[in-house]
Amino acid sequence: MSISDHLPEHIRELTERYAGETVALRRHLHQYPELSFEEHETAAFICERLDELGIPYQSGVAGTGVIAELQGDADAAPGAGKAGAAKVVALRADIDALPIQEPAGLPFCSQRPGVMHACGHDIHSAALLGAGHILQTLRTQFAGTVRLLFQPAEERIPGGALGMIQAGALRNPSVSSVIGEHVNPDLPVGKVAFHSGFFMASVDDVYITVRGRGGHAAKPHQNIDPVIISAHLLSSLQQIVSRSADPLVPSVLSFGRVIADGAHNVIPNEVRIEGTFRTTDDTWRYEAHEQIRRIASSTATSMGGEADVEIRVGYPSVVNEPGLTERLRCAAVEYLGQDQVVDTPPAMWAEDFAYYGREAPACFYNLGVGTPGVDNAPVHSPSFQAEESCIALASGLLSYLALTELS
Ligand code: NI
Repeated sequence: MSISDHLPEHIRELTERYAGETVALRRHLHQYPELSFEEHETAAFICERLDELGIPYQSGVAGTGVIAELQGDADAAPGAGKAGAAKVVALRADIDALPIQEPAGLPFCSQRPGVMHACGHDIHSAALLGAGHILQTLRTQFAGTVRLLFQPAEERIPGGALGMIQAGALRNPSVSSVIGEHVNPDLPVGKVAFHSGFFMASVDDVYITVRGRGGHAAKPHQNIDPVIISAHLLSSLQQIVSRSADPLVPSVLSFGRVIADGAHNVIPNEVRIEGTFRTTDDTWRYEAHEQIRRIASSTATSMGGEADVEIRVGYPSVVNEPGLTERLRCAAVEYLGQDQVVDTPPAMWAEDFAYYGREAPACFYNLGVGTPGVDNAPVHSPSFQAEESCIALASGLLSYLALTELS
């Protein structure tokens, strides 16, 4: 296909024309959030919209996922090239929400107690539907296929991406690239940020049960105190990141939950500890798991207790394919302007988008949703909010990126 010089302008016009409906889609999704792997109404809503747009899809993928297929029809446009005819570009949005109570205030506040779109997946989904509308309108102007992946359960291990891939999301025919985005409240609305290469960490959940022998706090010599064992263990485990990890390989071991359910005068029988291990190197990742097990066990044994360690292996690291990332960055500059496209450093967040990158060239970028000049609340916070103008921008940008990749 030949991407006309007017394409960015044309897409911006469509974006503006559809902005009202895209925002309405987001507000509906925001009002009716659903937790990971329970996104039945969300999926039904997405399918209803795809029906209205006349875009064919398959639902029930990996449980509650939806895969839509948008076929370019450049035959109808004489003069349009066929270069992209065999190509398939996948655009991915995650659709699940979080177990967070949204405070009252927004006119389209969550109607489901204890569930909130606090990670912006409502924005990702609405923007992808918006891109579907734009691309459907433009379908006589491109050849090739844009596959829309509405993926369930990004927030909960094992995630929905693996199931989507196993169900064939990237095959028949195979995709040439996968593009995904995530809202970032630290980035002002209007801007997007890219990073080539390693972008996000692998993540594994660590669960440790320290067993001792509880009893009266006044007679510690007759008990085996799992609280003191846990205190030693938490300190000892930090030598994994400070002494065992290669200083040039980022590693994080954080424990956010320590439950010693005794009392001021009762030593409990056991302590439950929960944490997260994140790194960027796969070999070191599994070595570190062994070290966590060994140190926990030997520390507890040396003090007369026991430690059971369970490590739930989560997502691999997100690596943005350099060639694709560079092409998308250039396309974003064409669409948004030089000043609006920035570089962002990698971080120890995690994302199951990582799995797509293991199968095909993939790029995950950040979408600015922050109010300029304000200390914006982070994602996963009940105070998280987004500037809604990001949605139209995101749907236009996704469309443009897909079409440049097909060209
Ligand atoms: Ni998220």
